[in-house]
Amino acid sequence: MSKIFKVELIKRPAEIRKLNKFLLSQPLDYPNHSEWIEKCIHEVKSGYKTSFGCYKNKEIIGDVIVQKDKSDPSKAEIKYLKTDPAFEHIGVGSALLESAEIFSVDNRFKKIVVDTHSTNKKMINFFLKHGFIILEEKALYRAGQLETILIKDVRLD
Ligand SMILES: CC(C)(COP(=O)(O)OP(=O)(O)OC[C@H]1O[C@@H](n2cnc3c(N)ncnc32)[C@H](O)[C@@H]1OP(=O)(O)O)[C@@H](O)C(=O)NCCC(=O)NCCS
Repeated sequence: MSKIFKVELIKRPAEIRKLNKFLLSQPLDYPNHSEWIEKCIHEVKSGYKTSFGCYKNKEIIGDVIVQKDKSDPSKAEIKYLKTDPAFEHIGVGSALLESAEIFSVDNRFKKIVVDTHSTNKKMINFFLKHGFIILEEKALYRAGQLETILIKDVRLD
């Protein structure tokens, strides 16, 4: 059966507007999240961040955002990965992660890193299932709230 979605690089202004709408529609428990979205949109426009959207009938149902790691330029960092809950379990998250991994190969990054709340077991298991390993746990956004940092070698299997 053919897929009901497709993943595409988000570049054109109309698509960046759809990305903004999608990000605003997905509540997440991070401090100053709406300010982060505003900055993120500017950085997608400037090319500092790269975003791949998962589309169904021209609407975004999931998105991944990736950039060069600020502390180690040999690494790519996934800054955001989310599937609209209405479209989970049909392969959207895996397709988005694959796009981030192909981006990392194409841009010659050696490793790909991501962090998520340590309480987000679903997300952690998703990355473990896709070959990531846990690097460390530490507070990144709020005192006392642990984040799990995961890492994977970049290579084409
Ligand atoms: C974790 C997350 C990305 C997974 O997204 P998803 O689109 O459901 O991912 P997939 O569909 O690729 O995989 C999920 C499951 O569906 C299964 N699946 C995939 N395609 C399928 C299909 N066609 N039929 C049946 N099952 C399928 C996968 O095998 C996987 O199974 P598992 O849970 O047993 O491992 C999603 O739940 C999410 O966005 N969570 C919130 C993330 C978040 O907090 N982000 C913010 C911080 S960056």
